[in-house]
Amino acid sequence: MDKIILTGDRPTGKLHLGHYVGSLKRRVELQNSGEYDKIFIMIADAQALTDNADNPDKVRENIIEVALDYLSCGLDPAKSHLFIQSQIPELTELSFYYMNLVTVSRLQRNPTVKSEIQMRNFEASIPVGFFTYPISQTADITAFKATTVPVGEDQLPMLEQAREIVRKFNSVYGDTLVEPEALIPKNTVCSRLPGTDGKAKMSKSLGNCIYLSDSEDDVRKKVMSMYTDPNHIKISDPGNLEGNTVFTYLDAFATDAHFAQFLPEYPNLEELKAHYQRGGLGDIKVKRFLDAVLQSELAPIRARRKELEQDIPAIYEILRQGSIAAQKAAAKTLAEVKASMRINYFDDAELIQAQQEKFNSGV
Ligand code: TRP
Repeated sequence: MDKIILTGDRPTGKLHLGHYVGSLKRRVELQNSGEYDKIFIMIADAQALTDNADNPDKVRENIIEVALDYLSCGLDPAKSHLFIQSQIPELTELSFYYMNLVTVSRLQRNPTVKSEIQMRNFEASIPVGFFTYPISQTADITAFKATTVPVGEDQLPMLEQAREIVRKFNSVYGDTLVEPEALIPKNTVCSRLPGTDGKAKMSKSLGNCIYLSDSEDDVRKKVMSMYTDPNHIKISDPGNLEGNTVFTYLDAFATDAHFAQFLPEYPNLEELKAHYQRGGLGDIKVKRFLDAVLQSELAPIRARRKELEQDIPAIYEILRQGSIAAQKAAAKTLAEVKASMRINYFDDAELIQAQQEKFNSGV
């Protein structure tokens, strides 16, 4: 069986460091590993509209931002199909059929849906489209026969739901769909990078994100004002690492090579942490180091983005080509699904013939 990746993001904003360590970086590694037969990366505009129905321009404008972020991080259209969800009508059609295989109570129990409903204060006013987005997400995954779905930890209940729908479909209509596996970040820091203010998540509305497209100055300012240990006032005070955002970011980004390059007095992060805890190490020094680490990671991404921004029509052409390839793959699966579901009337010469004979024999 082919090894196939599908994953994607909602285009509701530019991508930030949380997206980067949580999934983007890994995708690029997977892409370049050569281990996958096909890779589909989707800009999930239709899903974004499920809770932004009244704000289509926000979704529309962010498609190019996400595409630029993808390409500048190293996703390569020669190896991965980058496409736009709404341009693949087969996905909506699959969703419609999968809806028959899921109960309302099962959707209500989906922890991701539950917490997102809370987050958005939807309660009784949930749009139906939003409520059913795990089903649409199953369509996204199965349309490409994806075996592997690299996502953040928060998406695990989605994958479980997708697997259930696949099993149900296959047991009712015969083996047709492929059960996908989630691939989550190896370390938990990368799974949920906190905001620069120490809050659990980076979120645009909280203004606590470092964006991949931020300027060098912006990154420095954000790092220098990051939340640390509020009780670490004098340099000589012992510092606390727990909930200390600067150290959380170092956990996610700093390597021994970074120490050798930018802070050679310490061989590694363990030694830096030990000094901080003992007292005698100031926040500014640690922040300067983090800034150097992030700048070295972001500089090449920023430079590539600047270049790509020079030719926006070319980016849309990449998305168009990716969408054509994705549509072809999805159409093939949809045809199989319809055959399994016995709704492929016009392709079924035998059906037509058999019915003719039935009427002829007058039964
Ligand atoms: N829900 C994902 C997000 O919010 C985007 C997405 C849509 C997705 N369809 C998917 C991810 C299918 C993985 C597989 O970022």
